[in-house]
Amino acid sequence: MKIKNICCIGAGYVGGPTMAVIAQKCPHIQVTVVDINEKRIEAWNDSNLEKLPVYEPGLDKIVGEARGRNLFFSTHVDQAIDQADMIFISVNTPTKTYGKGKGMAADLKYIELCARQIARVATSDKIVVEKSTLPVRTASAIKSILDNTGNGSKVKFQILSNPEFLAEGTAIEDLLDPDRVLIGGDTSTSEGNDAIESLVNIYANWVNKEQILTTNVWSSELSKLTANAFLAQRVSSINSLSELCEKTGADVNEVAKAIGMDSRIGSKFLKSSVGFGGSCFQKDILNLVYIAKSYGLTEVADYWEQVILMNDHQKRRFAHHIISTLFNTVSGKKIAFLGWAFKKDTNDTRESAAIYVADELLNEQSQIDVYDPKVEEQQMYTDLDYLNTRSSKDNREGLTVHQDPYRACENAHAIAVLTEWDEFKTYDWQKLYDRMQKPAFLFDGRGILNIEELENIGFVCYKIGKGK
Ligand code: NAD
Ligand code: UGA
Repeated sequence: MKIKNICCIGAGYVGGPTMAVIAQKCPHIQVTVVDINEKRIEAWNDSNLEKLPVYEPGLDKIVGEARGRNLFFSTHVDQAIDQADMIFISVNTPTKTYGKGKGMAADLKYIELCARQIARVATSDKIVVEKSTLPVRTASAIKSILDNTGNGSKVKFQILSNPEFLAEGTAIEDLLDPDRVLIGGDTSTSEGNDAIESLVNIYANWVNKEQILTTNVWSSELSKLTANAFLAQRVSSINSLSELCEKTGADVNEVAKAIGMDSRIGSKFLKSSVGFGGSCFQKDILNLVYIAKSYGLTEVADYWEQVILMNDHQKRRFAHHIISTLFNTVSGKKIAFLGWAFKKDTNDTRESAAIYVADELLNEQSQIDVYDPKVEEQQMYTDLDYLNTRSSKDNREGLTVHQDPYRACENAHAIAVLTEWDEFKTYDWQKLYDRMQKPAFLFDGRGILNIEELENIGFVCYKIGKGK
């Protein structure tokens, strides 16, 4: 089938950038991204490209080129579903916060709603593509809903799994030049293989065919959870050693370089940090743990859960190190945070380590002053309120947000670097030092600053994973 019209349900961090790139690379295909969140769609349609709801380097240019030509953002979900030959489901699949599997399993209620809506609205055959990250075997649940509800008995559906591997902050680069594209489908029937071929042909407009992998649907679903688990495991592995480095006089950056030059290990994803964040690593590993448990695979579940436990430890350890260094009390002391996003070059804060470090310090009655180049003030309060540790009034009293880093650090007892934004490296650190309380403490949770230079200025420094 030659695809002329695509609909994507979910205009978030994945749906928006992914569809913008498909539209840019396939001017012959009309792409409509729909969402029930009116504000988000309004922002995607804003004539000021700086107001797009997702900040990603290069995204504004691509949206500017394709929007209104063959890329549309809309809240008319039914209409877009009906007109499409191919429908991507790109809605959120957060960890369940209630009932069976609470705190571990993926909440698939939005996925199910989409499937029911497609079945109700569709009047012609559709290829439905799982773009969201889903537990292995979800395709069979989607198929059952599509075939047995709404118009399901009259129209035919093919289900594909096409997980997304982009990382935030480099989404456009990753989409334009992916390591691989993975497409899973029903390889046992000619209809299934035709559907796979239709999606291969879309990507083939800009991706080499050798990099487009096709598999059965279960391998594709499970590969996505596995990829995130392996990536996060590397971060927890190096973070576990950062603590040992601090005790023994080793330097985790030197260790990472030494092991990373072994081509069997590789150098990427060995940057020790205050802990990994982001919307997916934790949720996807918890989901993997839950799936393993549900098959009775206790050892498999325990093995992967340790990656999360190590990450929780790393965030807590950083906060406790600040407290013990500041003479065991931070009560009434001002601690300046540089960075709140979970990594640089994104405005996304989901599961950011900064939130948890702030929470620990607020418990000790510290005053926190934050500067982040892209995160909005309201988002920081929402993140803290979501933890439910204290009232939102207390969160607002405890945490102050600044537009200027020098203001944020004025009179601070300590500065903590929570995100690796490049601009932090180029600040006038002498000026920051002059404005701080003495001794001026600096905690580099991302290992991005030149500690020797800072010590020469007079800072008392701690860098993750650097022993003395
Ligand atoms: P997001 O929360 O940014 O976006 C999801 C959007 O779906 C929201 O705007 C929401 O309003 C919309 N939505 C929910 N239910 C809907 C419905 N019934 N109809 C219409 N719209 C609906 O989430 P995201 O970060 O884009 O992630 C989406 C999926 O992609 C998740 O499964 C995630 O695990 C996966 N993923 C995310 C990333 C990433 O970097 N963020 C990368 C790869 C995969
Ligand atoms: C991650 C994966 O890299 C993507 O391939 C995947 O598609 C995505 O999850 C997803 O499924 O959502 P993302 O979370 O956007 O992407 O960003 P990463 O670059 O993976 O960083 C995740 C966290 O790990 C960040 O907090 C980052 O600072 C931290 N990290 C990463 C380290 O602490 N050290 C490293 O060496 C690498």
